[in-house]
Amino acid sequence: MKEADAFLFVLPEYNYGPPGALINALNFLVREWQYKAVGFVSYGGMSGGIRSVQVTKGLLTTLKVVPMLEAVAIPFVEQQLQAEGGIAANSIHVAAATTMLSELLRWTEALRILRA
Ligand SMILES: Cc1cc2nc3c(=O)[nH]c(=O)nc-3n(C[C@H](O)[C@H](O)[C@H](O)COP(=O)(O)O)c2cc1C
Repeated sequence: MKEADAFLFVLPEYNYGPPGALINALNFLVREWQYKAVGFVSYGGMSGGIRSVQVTKGLLTTLKVVPMLEAVAIPFVEQQLQAEGGIAANSIHVAAATTMLSELLRWTEALRILRA
């Protein structure tokens, strides 16, 4: 954790919020998160996990983490699961991931001075 320069959270949505394990991890570690950027790939039912991401952003900013605006959201994930595992990414997922990762890299480089 400490060695990482940035994070990518892959998270579902439960009852409009993030899973308890993620909240626990965020609260358990504090300094390890500071001055790092976080990108999101969220999934769930109708919302694609966007409400879960929104709740998580409030926690992250309290920990001095910079959450990315650009994100990948995967609605109705259970319909997209492949027999061999994973999901079949479509062009919308790929475009969103490309933009999000590009922003994540920019912010990771910009925040380097604060992590020093
Ligand atoms: C108790 C429960 C609550 C859920 N609440 C939401 C929700 O608020 N919004 C949503 O989009 N999906 C919701 N879902 C769907 C889950 O996000 C979906 O089943 C997802 O695959 C769960 O992630 P997991 O398989 O990694 O545990 C809920 C599912 C369960 C079982």
